[in-house]
Amino acid sequence: MEQTYIMIKPDGVQRGLIGEIISRIEKRGLKISAMKLNVMSEESAKEHYKEHAEKPFFGTLIDYVISGPSVSMVVEGKDAITIMRAVNGATNPVNALPGTIRGDFAIETGRNVVHASDSPDSAKREISIHFKDSEITSYSKID
Ligand code: CMP
Repeated sequence: MEQTYIMIKPDGVQRGLIGEIISRIEKRGLKISAMKLNVMSEESAKEHYKEHAEKPFFGTLIDYVISGPSVSMVVEGKDAITIMRAVNGATNPVNALPGTIRGDFAIETGRNVVHASDSPDSAKREISIHFKDSEITSYSKID
């Protein structure tokens, strides 16, 4: 059983896509084992995206991600990391296939609706930034 960190970014929340996105995750067969809606702190946002700290778009990215409420989730299931990358589609929506979240709802990399961890190490790191252990439940014992 694998866990990944998923964020519905402020543009996704503002556009009323929370239910649509959660529905796609659940219908695919993955489970939400933690969830919160809040305005991410600047500190958390900078830690989350620290690998991009030297990129020219870093400042814009941080401003965007803390510009309004986002939804943070831990999503759990077999191959959850790979499956959620596929559910979200390519980072640049120009390359995202129809049927993916970005392929259906986004046109710009800077407003790409969702984030998903890209590896087991990233998932562990990102989950620990946004959730305490005590906030995460698990279905693995009842499945
Ligand atoms: P995400 O999957 O959250 O991971 C890194 C984020 O950086 C990415 O989605 C985009 O939101 C953002 N990003 C990547 N490249 C660019 C870019 N060229 N311009 C603006 N934002 C970008």
